[in-house]
Amino acid sequence: MRSKRFERIAQRPINKDTFVRPWPEVGLSAAHSPFDPAPSLAIRDGAIVEMDGVASGDFDLVERFIALHAIDLGTAERAMATPSREIAKMIVDVNVPRRQVLDVIGGCTPAKLVDVINQMNMLEMMMGMAKMRARRTPANQAHVTNRKEHPALLAADAAEAALRGFAEVETTVAVARYAPFNALAVLVGAQAGRGGVLTQCAVEEATNLRLGFKGLTSYSETLSVYATERAFVDGDDTPWSKAFLNAAYASRGVKTRFTSGAGAPALMGHAEGRSMLYLEARSLLATRAAGSQGSQNGSISCIALPESLPEGLRAVTAENLIAMLLGLEVASGNDALASHSEIRKAAKLMLQFIPGTDFITSGYGTIPRPDNMFGGGNFDVSELDDWHVLQRDMRIDGGITPVTEERVLAARMRGAKALQAVFARLGFPPITDAEIEAAVTAYGSEDVPDRDRVADIDAAQRLQHGPMTVLEVIAALDAGGYGDVAANVLEMQRQRVIGDYLQPSAIFDERFRVRSALTDPNDYSGPGTGHRVDGERWAQLQALPQAWEPREWLASLDGGGSAPWLEELGTAQPGKGMEVIVAVGPAYGRALTRTIGGLDHRDVLDAIVAGLKEGGVAARVVRIWHTSDCAFIGHAGAQLSGSGVAIGLQSKGTTVIHRRDLVPLENLELFAQAPNLDIEAYRRIGYNAALHARGEPAPPIAVRSDNTARLRLIVQTMLLHRRETGEVEREREPTEMRMVDAGPR
Ligand code: 5AD
Ligand code: CA
Repeated sequence: MRSKRFERIAQRPINKDTFVRPWPEVGLSAAHSPFDPAPSLAIRDGAIVEMDGVASGDFDLVERFIALHAIDLGTAERAMATPSREIAKMIVDVNVPRRQVLDVIGGCTPAKLVDVINQMNMLEMMMGMAKMRARRTPANQAHVTNRKEHPALLAADAAEAALRGFAEVETTVAVARYAPFNALAVLVGAQAGRGGVLTQCAVEEATNLRLGFKGLTSYSETLSVYATERAFVDGDDTPWSKAFLNAAYASRGVKTRFTSGAGAPALMGHAEGRSMLYLEARSLLATRAAGSQGSQNGSISCIALPESLPEGLRAVTAENLIAMLLGLEVASGNDALASHSEIRKAAKLMLQFIPGTDFITSGYGTIPRPDNMFGGGNFDVSELDDWHVLQRDMRIDGGITPVTEERVLAARMRGAKALQAVFARLGFPPITDAEIEAAVTAYGSEDVPDRDRVADIDAAQRLQHGPMTVLEVIAALDAGGYGDVAANVLEMQRQRVIGDYLQPSAIFDERFRVRSALTDPNDYSGPGTGHRVDGERWAQLQALPQAWEPREWLASLDGGGSAPWLEELGTAQPGKGMEVIVAVGPAYGRALTRTIGGLDHRDVLDAIVAGLKEGGVAARVVRIWHTSDCAFIGHAGAQLSGSGVAIGLQSKGTTVIHRRDLVPLENLELFAQAPNLDIEAYRRIGYNAALHARGEPAPPIAVRSDNTARLRLIVQTMLLHRRETGEVEREREPTEMRMVDAGPR
């Protein structure tokens, strides 16, 4: 036997995700491996001689690096002696300042960090993130790439991402030799969209460093760290070489952030039986020890690996929190595709979105997913409105600003044209006007023409290996009539010399001011403190271009107080004989002119009357004044009807067939979902009412059912009902009405 329900559930997107049982020996455990060490620390003569159960003589290179450079020996003994649960409580307690937590954490070994975090549940970790992240104002990072590496499209997309408020924009390559062109396109595009956006082109380190030195990039996030010796060496490096590289970037004013995260050592085959969380605690201590100001973590490209395991997402959130506890800036994952299930994707996002991190995603694809050369992307351009709405729903700043199509098109045009001017002046293969036009309105790379790739790569290589730097780019922008973009690019260079954006968690705001852990420190200490979405920012986040004006909509339905086609004859009298009354609401045809389904009131009434005639019954129209309630309108009509049967009709289109002897909230048939009624349905309502009046069998009318009607139309329902209720005159008797030929509608 098979259950059709189980069969259907098995096909749901969530069941395309992979789930396995833990196998700690190979690294398949998220946060609790039986082989994780217990915390311990012994210090002799100012040096660590034993850490987490390993004597210093047996340290691998990661442990040695951590013991030498990561642990604050001044606070270590006190920290290690403090019960883990007590430290965990300090992290959650809004009355314990961030600074105090940083101090005690500074003396913790990797196993101690894990022991602290493993005291905490999801909610407590989110509280910890709200308090412990370095920068008060959250931000976001964007991915800007495309399959064709089309420079005009890159520039347009970077300009759009900058306009949308992303603080960092990163690109990468499909073909390595494009790197300098992609870096240039994103730099020029971003500075055309908004001055102060940091940019990078993630490529192999030597090239990456050269791009930074040339001034074509302003940050680097490419330095991966791993937690075990063999994983590190397989990654071609050591913690010492990473520290050196970090210093090399910093020496030229390039902001640097290391990357690590759950699953990488296991994926490389060198987890040594440890849990992902324990290994990440080691990576993060190595990150801090190497002098990096921040971490891109949260499993990043490996996300599906921890997600296959129990408490995988808890472990990933835990590693974000550990990074914050170490005082590091955090770009918190959510960049790689995390699930087939939209529900799981959104739920995962909320773990960082609600508490806030320095960068909620370490790469939001502001391009279509197939153009994301970072390997797919968790969120893409098509999901921007979902993000906007979540920010508005929760009054949360997720670092993306809703903007109008008009402004986006203008920014894209400027970005692409500025790059066109640079290409022309520097003698690169020209960007044609047709390419610009295609790039500005493109959805993705399929909408832009192919370029001569050999010529582009040639020119890119000249830029890479020749003497040209960002200074020639600035001159070209200026000469090409893009003085403001030139000024922004120049200002980026000036800021490199000033160096303030090498402070932890530094970004630039829209006025080129550094917002960092020093200038914008997170001071969250409970209600009313920390980053609050207020004033101008709240106005921006509320202003969805698709949010409509309810006053205007209602005004568009106003009939001006009287219906020329529906004449008032005076107080209605009880009728005799075979008639059905159509009782309309107080606003019908006069204060309102259309149903919620958009049907003209005149057409609706015509259809009902036609149906009644077809059923062999005379129709009389009456306006009810004393109520706007559909049931009571119908009931009042029935009291006046010769047959005892009436049709109650609200202005929004809700309809009831009533009979005199029934109590008001009883009825013969109710058509509660007005949006599902069309003209034909109203005619059949008339016909059925006639059958009821004549005492003939009347099979209930089956109407279209639509589960989304209430969801789609509840605001309109509320507005229409309020309008009708506003027309109610409690003491006024029903009036006799006559439909007259008022000419064309
Ligand atoms: N650990 C270490 N490095 C990672 N990267 C992605 N995920 C991880 C991880 N979990 C690396 C990529 C690339 C850089 C941007 O980040 O391999 O080099
Ligand atoms: Ca990134």
